[in-house]
Amino acid sequence: MTIPADEKPGARIGVSVALEGRAYDIHIGRHLLCEAAGLIGDLAPGAKVALVTDGTVAALHAPALEASLHQAGIASTRMVIPPGEASKSFGQLAALCDELLAAKIERNDIVVALGGGVVGDLTGFAAAILRRGVRFVQIPTSLLAQVDSSVGGKTGINSSHGKNLIGAFHQPALVIADTALLDTLSEREFKAGYAEVVKYGLIDDPGFFDWCEANWSRIIAGGPERDHAVAVACRAKAAIVARDEREEGDRALLNLGHTFAHALERLTGYDSRRLVHGEAVAIGLALAFRFSQRLGLCPGQDAVRVARHLDAVGLPSRLRQVPGGTGSADEIVAAMAQDKKVKRGVLTFILARGIGRSFIAPGVAAEEVRAFVADELAAG
Ligand code: GLY
Repeated sequence: MTIPADEKPGARIGVSVALEGRAYDIHIGRHLLCEAAGLIGDLAPGAKVALVTDGTVAALHAPALEASLHQAGIASTRMVIPPGEASKSFGQLAALCDELLAAKIERNDIVVALGGGVVGDLTGFAAAILRRGVRFVQIPTSLLAQVDSSVGGKTGINSSHGKNLIGAFHQPALVIADTALLDTLSEREFKAGYAEVVKYGLIDDPGFFDWCEANWSRIIAGGPERDHAVAVACRAKAAIVARDEREEGDRALLNLGHTFAHALERLTGYDSRRLVHGEAVAIGLALAFRFSQRLGLCPGQDAVRVARHLDAVGLPSRLRQVPGGTGSADEIVAAMAQDKKVKRGVLTFILARGIGRSFIAPGVAAEEVRAFVADELAAG
């Protein structure tokens, strides 16, 4: 797979999310932030902007966006939430809604989420319920948000019962993925987002997985390969969302590796010093392939290849790599059983018949999972 001619350095890549009545564009490219005001102005002439960000991103990127909005004659108000998963809470949602109302944000105005997944999920949910729905624009600043959470309209907050259990589908009106913003990410955070990139190859695009194996270091370095990877991921997600917006079918494929991942995140107390989401997904991807192999579905060499690629990138692929440990097989299965994808006590998994051949497997026996996890733990 080679990079298409229209994705050479400096190119602007456009991806459409074809939802009837709510179609929107994803713009991908380096240094798009300085063009954001023009894109927002075209979307909503005369609108005010509420710019929601977190304390970390505000210092790095808000001034450039505000300067471009100011130059374009667009009035903006900045709202800053604390960085971190704890901001996806009822308290923070209420505070943000109050702030948006105090700033007199009306239904024809625009709420902009400038940040990673936490900012996008919280801001999107606030936009979904404020005045029964205002338009919002996603300007994702993490790789994970650019290739996953900013696209597809899942918004929400966490509950004491689990992550993302309270929310709404509310599609953005525009997504601007400035891939130069990713230059400020730590290597750890970038690599964690990369797990969600490679996931698209594993779901249904074996050619993309081959390409990732050959090009992952250039994706990290930030050349046209990075833009291409973001574009492939966004196109894949846009296609799935367009045919199954509300996860009644195919959209569940995007959860490849996530049933294991969510359990590991829960068991490590959502402590980002131990495990961040993308690292949990990396382990979950490797486990999903080894579990598929054990069930006789997937050739062993494909499961080995997945783990070998994650290892080469510097991502974890084994339970033993979780700092501080994970608990027993029973605890891992119990943590999975709390996942929102569990229906009547039966686990639904995304399994694979090979690289790029994933499928939804409802009704996987918990005992089968427990025995697999016990063997993974014993293997060390
Ligand atoms: N992150 C999975 C989805 O958007 O459906």
